[in-house]
Amino acid sequence: MAARGFLVASLLLSCLAVTCYGVTFSSLQRTLLVTASPTPGQVLKAGEDQKITVTWSLNQTFPAGIDSTYKMVKVKLCYAPISQVDRAWRKTVDNLVKDKTCQFKVVAKPYSPSNNSFTWTLERDVPSATYFVRAYAYNSEDVAAGYGQTTDAHKTTNLFEIQAISGRHASLDIASVCFSAFSVLSLGGFFFMEKRKAARVSK
Ligand SMILES: *[C@@H]1O[C@H](CO)[C@@H](O)[C@H](O)[C@H]1NC(C)=O
Ligand SMILES: *[C@@H]1O[C@H](CO)[C@@H](O)[C@H](O)[C@H]1NC(C)=O
Repeated sequence: MAARGFLVASLLLSCLAVTCYGVTFSSLQRTLLVTASPTPGQVLKAGEDQKITVTWSLNQTFPAGIDSTYKMVKVKLCYAPISQVDRAWRKTVDNLVKDKTCQFKVVAKPYSPSNNSFTWTLERDVPSATYFVRAYAYNSEDVAAGYGQTTDAHKTTNLFEIQAISGRHASLDIASVCFSAFSVLSLGGFFFMEKRKAARVSK
């Protein structure tokens, strides 16, 4: 019984120490080199089959073994400060559990120190904003242990823009909905006429 209590207590403590409390971004070392295909200031349109290619690798100037705990890499699309102003739901918080800077997952892959590349097709639900790409390295407990990003520490250089579905697309969507509604109605009307005709003939 005492052993069990101890187990529960230590589980709770370790939970408080890592997972529940969370690591802070400022405690992480920038050990990964990350590049993304958009050129600075480029405008990409979501929903038009536009792609972003991301590459990442370990910065080899760090002492060997700095990546010994790395197990996974998760690449994310992150809001630049200019797109976070007055938007609490995109706020940067140092505690990574609460941070809302990077809301779009690009890919998750097992960690490898070199030759990593992934091409992502922009999803339609990515909102219009200015972005950069960040990659986090995670340890076996799924806790962030290092990172890299395509922009500088102040998140002001090498940013790109994404434009969500344009008005033209929205009106096309509305047009197709109206058109299908119209076809259902006319089909109903056709059956009604046929039935009336049949009723008249059988009289
Ligand atoms: C690699 O890391 C070192 C040490 O932090 C840093 O000085 C250097 O600029 C980094 N290299 C690149 C290409 O970012
Ligand atoms: C990475 O790619 C380069 C050139 O394509 C190759 O020489 C090297 O062996 C690769 N490294 C790994 C770890 O696969």
